Amino acid sequence: MIHLTREVRFAIDRDRNSDEVLASPIVNTWAGWPDADGLAPYLKLQATVAGQPDPVTGYLCDIKHLDDLLRTSAVPLALTPAADPLTTERFLQGVWQRVTDSTPGGAALIRLRLFPTPYIHYTIRREDPEMIQLTEQFEFSAAHRLHSPGLSDGANRELFGKCNNPRGHGHNYVVEVTVAGQPDASGLVCSRRRLEQVVKECVLDRLDHKHLNEDTAEFRDLNPTVENIALVVWNLLADKLAPVRLTRIRVYETPKTWADYCG
Ligand code: NI
Repeated sequence: MIHLTREVRFAIDRDRNSDEVLASPIVNTWAGWPDADGLAPYLKLQATVAGQPDPVTGYLCDIKHLDDLLRTSAVPLALTPAADPLTTERFLQGVWQRVTDSTPGGAALIRLRLFPTPYIHYTIRREDPEMIQLTEQFEFSAAHRLHSPGLSDGANRELFGKCNNPRGHGHNYVVEVTVAGQPDASGLVCSRRRLEQVVKECVLDRLDHKHLNEDTAEFRDLNPTVENIALVVWNLLADKLAPVRLTRIRVYETPKTWADYCG
């Protein structure tokens, strides 16, 4: 089984008519098409399809057709006035309903992901299309020292190298919090403001601008590796987010190193 993901980028310019927008010539899909004349949300929509490549063409599906399907489903939905406020969740569900059985070439759509900003995304998966996952990024800065009391000083220096520096060193950590739930009557999986408030109070206020080993109870006896930070952040949040369910914590120590914990 092969998975193929395609991303389309487009602006939702509500001062323009959807038919005219889609009929305008395609010039730069890298920067996004349709584009915007004025200030407008700029969205990324990713579709993942699964199947076996065609033995002749090697294609799972023709991405030109996939692009066309995504744009002609998403753009009119966003530009046509609706009775209910168009939350990101309703928009993604609407696109899913329009494209779910129409993927070209016999490949099955297994996931749709929408980025309303570079730091937030919403996901629908085929195995449970009523459920929406919301992922939001946060950041905190902290110092730490990698050191295990179970090892000799020499063994600590050898294993952790410069990360064993007695006075520590710093990172700008990025924390990705993923929750899952069904949209409520107002079309929301959860209040993002509440999610942000809980993460701020339970995680950021506790860890941001601290020396993790020296200033936090969580790491007094626990080596603050990125793996353990992911575990600690999970434990700080796991029972605080009902009615949505925490499904994953990802912590980036650097853009090249990150850890995931899913409970
Ligand atoms: Ni470090």
